[in-house]
Amino acid sequence: MTIGLGLESSCDETAAAVVKDGRTVLANIISSQIDLHRVYYGVVPEIASRAHLETINILINRALDEAGISFADLDYVAATNRPGLVGSLLVALQSAKVISYALKIPLIGVNHLEAHLYAAFLEGREPEYPYIGLLVSGGNTVLYHVRGVGDMEVIGRTVDDAAGEAFDKVAKHMDLGYPGGPVIERLARTSGRKPILFPKILPEPGDQRFSYSGIKTAVVNYLAANPGADQADVVHSFQERVLEILARRAFAAARSRGIRTIVVAGGVAANGRLRALLAEGRRDGEEIIIPSPILCTDNAAMVAGIGYRYFAGGRFDGMDIDVRARA
Ligand code: KG4
Repeated sequence: MTIGLGLESSCDETAAAVVKDGRTVLANIISSQIDLHRVYYGVVPEIASRAHLETINILINRALDEAGISFADLDYVAATNRPGLVGSLLVALQSAKVISYALKIPLIGVNHLEAHLYAAFLEGREPEYPYIGLLVSGGNTVLYHVRGVGDMEVIGRTVDDAAGEAFDKVAKHMDLGYPGGPVIERLARTSGRKPILFPKILPEPGDQRFSYSGIKTAVVNYLAANPGADQADVVHSFQERVLEILARRAFAAARSRGIRTIVVAGGVAANGRLRALLAEGRRDGEEIIIPSPILCTDNAAMVAGIGYRYFAGGRFDGMDIDVRARA
């Protein structure tokens, strides 16, 4: 039995988790800073790093308590070290270094994006490679061909805004609240579905990039020209445009490569309409794996989980490992 501690502080969630053998979550403690950032409609880096620092030790102790273990039971410690806000990332990584040094256990620096996709394998399933990974969050929209642990080829990523960012920006413009994804999803459900034809993103055939700033501008322009527009109809059409391209690209990437498994992760994967579009588009023999909503958004169980795969492969980091803003 291998027990790992995972730490996460790359953006606006501080988290600590204990995972057994890379797939059984014994504790998954998350402290969201959303209330601190809500008034700014986005994450303020200085506020984020200070709040991580104030919280992380409390969360580590709570995670160990909840898992019913002590520091001495840990076999390795993993922390997200990239990508993210540099001042925020430092908090989890430095904590992990101290624990590694004091307990003489391996330290593993984790790629947050690889960890997000690994969340799909924390609910009792063995990782199945290769798969197509669709990572859709507030900071990232990336499609990957994942061949193995640490072996991820980028098929396409956004050239401007991330999908979640588009939800957040449209919600901000319409004064609906923050974060935008959940409020837009809820409001869209009440729409009478009068379609508004926002422009389609029409890249060259084979182009796998995403772009979300144009649709956001189209919504802003539409509302300026139609001040009496029904808000639910506007966000419904916006949401359809944003999500349909995600589903279409994921299926196209899988089918053109003969891959039958698609893993979807990140905050936007919590969206019920995206889940429905993927279920509707699925063909026989294809499998769509989406983690439970609690594992879709930032957490440390996914960090401990992918950390286990590195631990098992003897792939450890030294004390000189640093944080990186980019993956
Ligand atoms: O992965 P995540 O927690 O971390 C960041 O990237 O910060 O994702 C947060 C993002 C936000 O942009 C939020 O609006 C979006 O995920 N999101 C959603 C939903 N829930 C969260 N987007 C669409 N539908 C949702 N239900």
